[in-house]
Amino acid sequence: ADPDPLQDFCVADLKSAPSVNGFPCKLASEVTSGDFFYDGLSKEGNTTNLFGVNVNTGNVLAFPALNTLGISMNRVDLAPGGINPPHLHPRSTESGIVIEGKLLVGFVTTGNVFYSKVLGVGEMFVVPRGLVHFQLNVGDGKALIFTAFNSQLPGAVIVPLTLFASTPSVPDDVLTRAFQVEDDVINGIKSKFGL
Ligand code: GLV
Ligand code: MN
Repeated sequence: ADPDPLQDFCVADLKSAPSVNGFPCKLASEVTSGDFFYDGLSKEGNTTNLFGVNVNTGNVLAFPALNTLGISMNRVDLAPGGINPPHLHPRSTESGIVIEGKLLVGFVTTGNVFYSKVLGVGEMFVVPRGLVHFQLNVGDGKALIFTAFNSQLPGAVIVPLTLFASTPSVPDDVLTRAFQVEDDVINGIKSKFGL
């Protein structure tokens, strides 16, 4: 989904201010082999949290060589029963592959049609750009997937956090009307996220 590059590479200089789109390039004379390799996705993430998930984003901010190249990857670790909660990527389609465990993987279309499947090791999935999707660990042990994106910075709108954990918060009146429930239900949900 990102624009095409106009040169071989443009390793991001993250210290300069972001440009109109993406980052300015590091000086070519300062680019080394080390710029093109990244080991930040090699270790298991800490899944001790509300959702039982850790999403390690290998995007341009973590791996500056991705700048202008239109791709990136994530590592997603899930504790038993863990969920990567419903979210969407405004700038990217996603594909993924299961490395360990068994997961229910699904997405919902703009027409509210739900597509899903339980996947095992070696199986792939795809999520069309901008659609709400999730992965739920339904196996007995840990689960691990790697995901790939056609954007250097896909972005993530995490649905429960967007509506119930924003700063400042979305007014209760909006949420009670939107979800057709009373204040106590909204406050109950907000309190789970420490608000
Ligand atoms: C999984 O959905 C991911 O965004 O890495
Ligand atoms: Mn995703």
